[in-house]
Amino acid sequence: MEAPIKNTTVEKKINSGKLGLKGFLNKRNSQSFLTWVNDFLLFIRNLKRNKEHSYFRLITSAPGSKVIVMSQDNHEEHEMLLFASNNYLGLANNNHIKNKVKEAIDKYGTGLGGPPILNGYTQLMKELEQRIARLKRQEDCLIFSAGYNANLGFVSALGKSNDLFIYDELSHASLYDALKLSNAKGISFKHNDAGDLEKKLAKYSTTIKGTIFVCFEGIYSMDGDISPLSQMIPIIKKYGALSVLDDAHGLGILGIDGSGTAEHFKISKEIDISMGTFSKSLAGTGGFLAGRKEIINYIRYFARPYMFSAALPPMSLAAILAGLDIIEKSPQLREQLYENIKYAHKILSPFNIVSKDVTPIIAILVPKWMDIRKANSIIHKRGIFLNAIEYPAVPKNKQRFRISLMAQHSKTDLNKLAKVLTDVWANPKVKIEINDKSMEL
Ligand SMILES: Cc1ncc(COP(=O)(O)O)c(C=O)c1O
Repeated sequence: MEAPIKNTTVEKKINSGKLGLKGFLNKRNSQSFLTWVNDFLLFIRNLKRNKEHSYFRLITSAPGSKVIVMSQDNHEEHEMLLFASNNYLGLANNNHIKNKVKEAIDKYGTGLGGPPILNGYTQLMKELEQRIARLKRQEDCLIFSAGYNANLGFVSALGKSNDLFIYDELSHASLYDALKLSNAKGISFKHNDAGDLEKKLAKYSTTIKGTIFVCFEGIYSMDGDISPLSQMIPIIKKYGALSVLDDAHGLGILGIDGSGTAEHFKISKEIDISMGTFSKSLAGTGGFLAGRKEIINYIRYFARPYMFSAALPPMSLAAILAGLDIIEKSPQLREQLYENIKYAHKILSPFNIVSKDVTPIIAILVPKWMDIRKANSIIHKRGIFLNAIEYPAVPKNKQRFRISLMAQHSKTDLNKLAKVLTDVWANPKVKIEINDKSMEL
């Protein structure tokens, strides 16, 4: 049963479009906590009533290129084309992986009830560490229960008060959160701008007494562009800093063997700490850090999310190991994905695509005159499941539809995506009305 909520004048403001999410967030300090959460509930209910709430869609099948979604209003199920999953190689519903998971459950049960250091370190975890270290051309590796935790882990373990983290301004939220857990200072450099990175290194390398860590990603998750690693790495080395690459989206996708972005540039061994997750192309959960033996050994004993959180269960480890078998043995999956990426760029070229780099993430900027929520509601009704990235998550002029491609999408699927987007761009209903404040939402 829905909790009864107090009707306040804020509901009228929300309904009339006079109060958006940003405005709402700004009111936090001037209201009691309970009024605030009550108003937020009204805000979400209003979105649902207007069919503009595209979060927490209820999936009732495996997430392939097609997925079954259940309407939460009438419980009807609809097949949709899925362009919102980072399951780029389609491994989430693979028979080899599912069989290996079943075997692992029979052998090891479902969980370990503790962190690796106490009682959660299994043979499967050790095997996975060794395979990832090999794939990343590093000496050692340790496995976290999420990529988010891997970022929290290395920053909290390594960052001391006289150290500095210099990071790309478009870094993932996990790095920003990690810095809040650490005593080290942090400053950003302009996105993918090796010149700005050098300026920052030149300025701080003379004053910072501790270590400088430079953090960047392989493929950026919101723009879909690739880091200019071959320009950045020599600069980082020149100033004696350590490089930390978060390659969440490059693993399984880039490089001759799917090793990732560093291998794409043939510089895997130059990376000091290589971070990744199993939640994208490996379609599971978990994350890792790989690097020199002494660095990984230290993190193993001092990373708080590794020490104080339960280990990945054997069934998850078995899924990732089996996924690595497929990445090793099936280069054709990557080839299929690249074909789809190239084809999608061709047919989506009339739209304002953020980056032309060949990655499975295609971000299409939403024009100033378009109401992103109304547009996404129509896209959903037409059977396309993609993600709308709205203000204030991105600036107003950078709102976008984020499309994730999979190897299994067919040309027909991609053509349908392009047709639906073309129709939506031409639909007068998605135009922002004069005096409509929905851009504020
Ligand atoms: C760049 C990047 N780093 C880290 C993460 C966190 O990974 P996980 O989902 O495994 O916690 C993500 C996931 O969205 C990501 O895109």
